[in-house]
Amino acid sequence: MAEHKLGVEQREQWGTRAGFLMAAIGSAIGLGNIWRFPYIAYDNGGGAFLLPYLIALFTAGIPLLILEYTIGHRYRGAAPRAFLPLARPAQAIGWWQVAMCFVIATYYAVIIAWAVRYTGFAVGQQWGDDPETFLMSDFLQASDSPGMISSYVGGVAWPLIGVWVVTLVIVAFGIRRGVEKANKIFIPLLIVLFLILVVRALFLPGAATGLDALFSPDWAAITDGQVWIAAYGQIFFSLSVGFGIMITYASYLRRRADLTGSALVAGFANSSFELLAGIGVFATVGFMAVQSGIGVNDVVTDGIGLAFVAFPQIISTLPGGATLFGLLFFGCLVVAGVSSLISIVQVIVSSVQDRTGMRRGPAVAVVGGGTALASILLFPTKEGLYILDAADHFINQYGIALAGLVTVITVSWVLRKLGTLRDHANASSAVPLGRWWVITLSVITPIILGWMTWDSLRTELASNYEDYPTSFLLIAGWGVVIAVIVFAVVMTLIPWRRTAPDDEHFHLNTVETAETGRR
Ligand code: ALA
Repeated sequence: MAEHKLGVEQREQWGTRAGFLMAAIGSAIGLGNIWRFPYIAYDNGGGAFLLPYLIALFTAGIPLLILEYTIGHRYRGAAPRAFLPLARPAQAIGWWQVAMCFVIATYYAVIIAWAVRYTGFAVGQQWGDDPETFLMSDFLQASDSPGMISSYVGGVAWPLIGVWVVTLVIVAFGIRRGVEKANKIFIPLLIVLFLILVVRALFLPGAATGLDALFSPDWAAITDGQVWIAAYGQIFFSLSVGFGIMITYASYLRRRADLTGSALVAGFANSSFELLAGIGVFATVGFMAVQSGIGVNDVVTDGIGLAFVAFPQIISTLPGGATLFGLLFFGCLVVAGVSSLISIVQVIVSSVQDRTGMRRGPAVAVVGGGTALASILLFPTKEGLYILDAADHFINQYGIALAGLVTVITVSWVLRKLGTLRDHANASSAVPLGRWWVITLSVITPIILGWMTWDSLRTELASNYEDYPTSFLLIAGWGVVIAVIVFAVVMTLIPWRRTAPDDEHFHLNTVETAETGRR
């Protein structure tokens, strides 16, 4: 239980810098690294994708990560409260991120639940000879097309309940005793398990064919705008920037904290893991291609197809140790997923605590429980897969990256706060931020993100995503995008009561008076 002073709960703190870093890395390394990166990299020029990817990392990922750490650390609040002292209306960005975290948490947990079941199915390869039919018909019992929710799928519901119980219990234990402790176990475990998996994959016959396919650069690809969009999109999702997660996590740092150094460590750790995942997945895919005499591109499908159809198929044909390989792969997905889900839920819980003054336990029960309930009611259904697909696509294209764009424009151009934030980061960081940081965030990032959003919008309006019916996309796609914005506006219009848990330490008064000259 946190310390108490004059009856108010003070803001918690991470126990150690390593603990904070583990949690930040745990949030970054998630489903996006293992099933999203290999497919996106392959589809966008293979080896040539690494160039846009690295440029995206340095021109948007790491600068934004530093910005989020600095905002959270300086204003000591989860996203809405951290934006509030910058300018009252800016809190809308924070509420927007909270609403997006709610949506993402509801479906992210479902993919982890599938991975939980597949860890079990790996024993004796219970998916049989046709993993695609097994996934769609036997396991998900997916309907043929999107529509009204008709019936419930128990086989998805119970692991989902399990995922939510574990996540909420960890969050309920708090930052130091829950999130930090869990990540200190999860991250080393994940790295060891994943290394075993990758080494095994590299020894498979045909591994080199897969790696050749991944790393043979298609240089023409880097002149294609879509490839750059894919690179920036991957960096955002993978580093967990634009979600409000890193603002929230940094708000629990001590006064003296190396913000820039921590962002560099988290950024490099995440990208190294991502490359490792690319190597592991493609070595495995190469084995399959050589075994069946087909091209690597016939094995690689989209994220869900790669993890839950291609991988089971490959595991079944392994020359030995198939069950162990399956346990490792799906086990890694579960561990990486849960450590990210915790961080997504933490944004919602911390924001509500900041806003209402609620204690952690009741906040987890009410808002964490509410998020879990929405997830459990909506997704383990025959139509759940389509809702998940549409919500994921729209919230990533017109939510996360857009929130990143609005953040940089607001902070750099509207409020002109980059200089103040740079001084704040430099006051306690080992690596000083130069002018490159300001230029990158105020010029390069907005241009690229603005163009990215415009380009996706053009494609979106030209044809329906996945040819889904317009009525369905208006609810599960555009409807979700608009609902999160409406929520943000409504929350911004409601005035704050000064009952935040650590009000005494919440220097809204001092910071806001100093920075804007008003309260
Ligand atoms: N950063 C998390 C992931 O990669 C959300 O899945």
